[in-house]
Amino acid sequence: EKGGYDYFMLKEIAEQPKAVADTLLGRIGAEGQLTLDELRIPPQVLRMVDKVVIVACGTAFHAGLIAKYAIEHWTRLPCEVELASEFRYRDPILDARSLVIAISQSGETMDTLMALRHAREQGATVLAICNTNGSTIPRESDAVLYTHAGPEVAVASTKAFLTQLVACYLVALYLGQVRGTKWADEILAVVGDLARIGEEVERVLETMEPVRELARSLAGADTVLFLGRHVGYPVALEGALKLKELAYMHAEGFAAGELKHGPIALIEEGMPVVVVVPSPRGRSVLHDKIVSNIQEIRARGARTIVIAEEGDEAVVPYADHLVRVPATPTLLQPLVATVPLQVFACELATARGNEVDQPRNLAKSVTVE
Ligand code: F6R
Repeated sequence: EKGGYDYFMLKEIAEQPKAVADTLLGRIGAEGQLTLDELRIPPQVLRMVDKVVIVACGTAFHAGLIAKYAIEHWTRLPCEVELASEFRYRDPILDARSLVIAISQSGETMDTLMALRHAREQGATVLAICNTNGSTIPRESDAVLYTHAGPEVAVASTKAFLTQLVACYLVALYLGQVRGTKWADEILAVVGDLARIGEEVERVLETMEPVRELARSLAGADTVLFLGRHVGYPVALEGALKLKELAYMHAEGFAAGELKHGPIALIEEGMPVVVVVPSPRGRSVLHDKIVSNIQEIRARGARTIVIAEEGDEAVVPYADHLVRVPATPTLLQPLVATVPLQVFACELATARGNEVDQPRNLAKSVTVE
């Protein structure tokens, strides 16, 4: 049932191109309009929404952090993202004009369920983005968008994450469509990019041998740091989470701009630091700033592992290890940039003799608060 792979995680990583395509299936009309009728939220309700709040845990929370960039950019609605476990204890400000999006692979995560119950009590509309048909979170929500990633067995989430991102992009575009901040031609362009992403992910998967080799060489490291900016920042957090849960290593993700405010003090001779580099085309200011960050940490002894777009030559002199990902529009880069980090964590866990599919102390669905 592992389809020839040693671990479910490897199988699920390999299934990502198809999973991403399946999330898009049947949701895009001939003229590029999104047909999310399954949402069952009347357009007049969506037009009334004045803020979006995303609640989720772990990897799903990281998908939410990325979704915030897309939602704010494409809809101009303010969007907050909050750890589901913190949400209701803070007495959040919600009303009938709030759209709460609960993201969950299993649909059974108690923290997320309690957060959405709280939101509904305050009169908010709750949309679930979920992978498990008929699970509790979609049943208790006003509407659901299923990710259709297929069953995810490995405890560490991989294909569910990529499909959560695609679902979030679709919701963001749909909100833009209904509210008139995003026009059919623009939506069509993004949808076209999304439709191509499966192939890009496939190409990344085909070039992972050097990443596996690198991971094996780092089996003895104590700490790995991850840096990113913009949507690359949640990708860095996700890379660090994967390493913690699978390799049982100390790993931290930082926003690269925060380095100088503290974390740079951690850098020691030989410390591996993974840097997710934004496209030099889109937000070139951020690109240039992160290239300076790479120079700074390298000057302090870091061993730099740089994830950069094909054709980005500026990073070459400062990369001890260079991992190439295909050029994508800025907001979609997490779909390709996360993949090497999944492979990296999986291989490092294997090299350390850990159980990849069943990491210690973890369960696939966390049904206690
Ligand atoms: C990480 C991981 C967890 C889950 C989190 C939420 O690889 O699997 O962090 O993402 O427990 O689970 P769901 O999405 O089922 O609500």
